[in-house]
Order: sequence, then C-alpha cells, then structure tokens
Amino acid sequence: MRKQIVAGNWKMNKNIQQGKELCNSILNLLETSNKEVILAVPFTHFTVLAELIKGSDLKLAAQSCHHELSGAFTGEISASMFVNLGVDYVILGHSERRTYNNEGHDLLRKKVDIALSQSLKVIYCCGESIEERKTGVHFDLVSEQIMEGLFHLDSESMKNIVIAYEPVWAIGTGETATSAQAQEMHSHIRKAIVNQFGAKVAQSTSILYGGSCKPSNAQELFSQTDVDGGLIGGASLNAEDFISIIKA
Ligand code: PGA
Repeated sequence: MRKQIVAGNWKMNKNIQQGKELCNSILNLLETSNKEVILAVPFTHFTVLAELIKGSDLKLAAQSCHHELSGAFTGEISASMFVNLGVDYVILGHSERRTYNNEGHDLLRKKVDIALSQSLKVIYCCGESIEERKTGVHFDLVSEQIMEGLFHLDSESMKNIVIAYEPVWAIGTGETATSAQAQEMHSHIRKAIVNQFGAKVAQSTSILYGGSCKPSNAQELFSQTDVDGGLIGGASLNAEDFISIIKA
C-alpha cells in the first residue's frame, strides 16, 4: 500500500501567532486519518509548532533547504538544522523556487542529496507551464525534471522521496487540472519510475497532485489510481478547508 499524504504548503503566510492558531485548529479538527498529514510552514515557526504537534500525527516540512550543511552562506538554513528542530520533510523543486530563485537541475540534485543524507524526506515537485502544455512538451518536460532531480538515486533512497505533480498553470490560479489530466501525468511519472527503479519502487512511491486543490475537487482528484494525495497551497491556510481535503 502506498502512503496517502496531504501536505499543506503555507508558503510565506501567517505570522507566528496566526500560525499557532491555524495549527491548533487543525489539531482540534483532525481525526485519526489513514493519511500522513504534513505542514510546510515558514522556517521561523518550527520551534513553536514542533512543541504544539508533539504526540499528534502531524509532521513538519521545510519549504526549501540549502545544498551545503554549514558555512558562509548568509541567510541560508541547512537540512541538518531542520532535522535538529524536529522537521521530517523538505519541499524541493517547487515551481516558485525554480522561477524566482533560479533553482535548476544541478542545484536541485545537490539539495536532494544533502536532504537525504540528513534523513530528511523529500517532496520533489515537478510540473509544466501553460505554454509547455499547449505546445505538447509537458510529458517530456516532467520526465526531464524527474530524471535530472532523482534518477541518480538508488532504489533505497527512493523510499524517502515523495513526488508532487504541480502544473504551474494551476498553482494559485483557481484553475485545477481535471482528474483525467492529473491521472494521465501521474501515470506517466510512475512509468518513468518503473523504467528507472523497477515496479516495486514505483508502486510504493507516493505521487501527490498540487495546484488549486480544494474541498470541492479533492475527492475526485484523490480517487484517481495514481494520485496519492495532495500538496495544498491556498486551501491549507484555512483549517476547515484543509481538514475537508484530508478527509476527501
Ligand atoms: P495552490 O498551491 O494550492 O494555492 O494552488 C499549491 C502549491 O504551490 O503547492
């Protein structure tokens, strides 16, 4: 059985007071779930939220990490520092970081390696722009992102990788991929993993959908064979919405 996962990506939202309130509301509403529930919160919130979620099933994720463990890198935070704070996951390859921080294949590969070396699990994002979809290169583009970021790993390391397919045109736009579009791409990704790592690894790798996933469409998306949960941006900032997505 593949792990079903719902991860909330708060991005650069919520100050610490608001973050505590949101986290408490989620804890109050959260029932035992067969899904792994993850909160990817701003770096500044980890100490406080790690204390709040103690004893619960919630896990914390960083939204990025540096590709070195320590040194003269002003303003950066390393994977080992996150682990030290009780963080379990890191999101890497999010389209916002690929775009605004120019994170390319080589850098992402280093980040994946350093995260795994510290036992931080990786939520590795991929996804095409609307132009890429319109010109029909979306399958090749996603294959390339997966190949460049993950195919240097061995099968054992893949146990600590979760993939998130997030079409860039659906992120924060209100426009969601149809369940058929999501299934088609997720199946494409799983086949690529079969080719590189074999069927056993592919069958146990969780592939999440992200991009304007909300209570009204989560159930339909999550019911697809190869969709194993979601990476949720906007809708994770509201406890009721996030909980109803977890229940979907
Ligand atoms: P969204 O963001 O749900 O607001 O579209 C998803 C993401 O960027 O992870």
